[in-house]
Amino acid sequence: MKRIRIKEVLQTTPQNQEILVKGWIRSFRNDKFIALNDGSTNNNLQIVIDLNNIPEEIKKRISTGAAISVTGTLIASQGQGQAVEVASTKLEILGDCDPEKYPLQLKNRPSLDFLREIAHLRFRTNTFGAIFRVRHSLAFAVHKFFNEKHFVYLHTPIISANDAEGAGETFHVTNFDISNPPKDESGKVDYKQDFFGKKTNLTVSGQLEGELAAMAFSDIYTFGPTFRAENSNTARHLAEFWMIEPEMAFYNLKDNMALAEEMLKYVIKYALDNNAEDIDFLNQRLLDEEKQKPQNERSELNLIEKLKFCLDNNFEHLTYTQAIDILRESNHNKKKKFQYLVNEWGVDLQSEHERYLVEKHFKKPVILTDYPKGIKSFYMRQNDDGKTVAAMDILFPGIGEIVGGSQREERLDKLTARMNEMNIPVHELEWYLDTRRFGACEHAGFGLGFERLVLFVTGMTNIRDVIPFPRTPKNCEF
Ligand code: 4AD
Ligand code: MG
Repeated sequence: MKRIRIKEVLQTTPQNQEILVKGWIRSFRNDKFIALNDGSTNNNLQIVIDLNNIPEEIKKRISTGAAISVTGTLIASQGQGQAVEVASTKLEILGDCDPEKYPLQLKNRPSLDFLREIAHLRFRTNTFGAIFRVRHSLAFAVHKFFNEKHFVYLHTPIISANDAEGAGETFHVTNFDISNPPKDESGKVDYKQDFFGKKTNLTVSGQLEGELAAMAFSDIYTFGPTFRAENSNTARHLAEFWMIEPEMAFYNLKDNMALAEEMLKYVIKYALDNNAEDIDFLNQRLLDEEKQKPQNERSELNLIEKLKFCLDNNFEHLTYTQAIDILRESNHNKKKKFQYLVNEWGVDLQSEHERYLVEKHFKKPVILTDYPKGIKSFYMRQNDDGKTVAAMDILFPGIGEIVGGSQREERLDKLTARMNEMNIPVHELEWYLDTRRFGACEHAGFGLGFERLVLFVTGMTNIRDVIPFPRTPKNCEF
């Protein structure tokens, strides 16, 4: 007999048909009812067993966490709480689970902190089941969105010799015995003898390679892991995170903003439509968590309302300069409630400022444009004012920056001048500059931090809880 997934069983009309299911025991109560889960849904299938028909030897092995196989009859449930249940005729233990040692007992609801330490088992909880099914759907929706628009999915390299953002936050990749690397005559490490014959690192972004392909396919996107050795131990930074980077020829900044907004709405709607049960569960989880907080710290909208609000409203557009004016004049600034006070034009916005704009001032997603060139990367297109670049950051409630992008500088002379000003090694990026030499055109793109998107859609607050095995400073378990 073919095994049926529990999600499907729960949607089947019971007609005393015989079925086979397999999964892990979530709970066993009254010596009669097993709640069985196989990860296809958060809802468990109730298995009703008759202990009289089960050998003593098997009986004592029915415990939370054990993997079992059940053959039985699908019937309308006698009890409340579920429509169908399985009257077991044959129960087989596939894998035992010692209740004395198993860390996931339902009795004491484990904290998220504790679950992070047993990330290898946390998939088996309702919370992480829901999170990672939603993560899957969002990833699928990203590909679906771009495929429908005829973008080419480009696999950009993970090992690279460039630092695309020019921020110097790369992890080195080397084959050297690092306690004794070969040196050149001047006593410096001789990378010519390293595996790639030069100094290499894990990629921080696939953008530069993405731009090369956009100059042939018009529209491409990447979706892969990126790595940053920034020492920010926050709830929003990972050393290894997944980024989606579309790059489009013949797009200006306005087109770029419109695409980013359309894409965000599309993937959020996809999750709402296809993961309603999981999102309902996460919504309830958040409501329960918020009950612990004082009234004035609770969110005005629940998770589902927040997601729908995002779909139903246009994102607010404003320039960096307008944002600085709002922040400078805000009561928050005047009463010195910001940790970093906003006084001068030109300063980088901190997460507290981004969240003030989104959560307090506009109360909706915001797209900030035209940042000072001094705080942005070398490749952004220079505006005519000589001070700003055609950058855009999208800020989300509860998250801060979720997307960073720009129109690209396609003018060779302006680009090389800016690279020289910023000490970006021009000779190492001749291949990049070739796109500006051979058929250059207006183009633009952006990067969406995938885990930040998953944070937003699941209502979780720590980025370590939306990636299976987080890599953060001083932490690389599993
Ligand atoms: O703003 P960033 O650094 O932009 C780029 O890398 C560009 N090359 C993108 C492009 O235009 N193609 O990063 C883009 C996004 C951020 O907005 C944020 O959502 C996410 O990537 N991000 C991180 N997410 C988790 N942990 C980190 N350490 C992150 N750094 C950036
Ligand atoms: Mg950024």
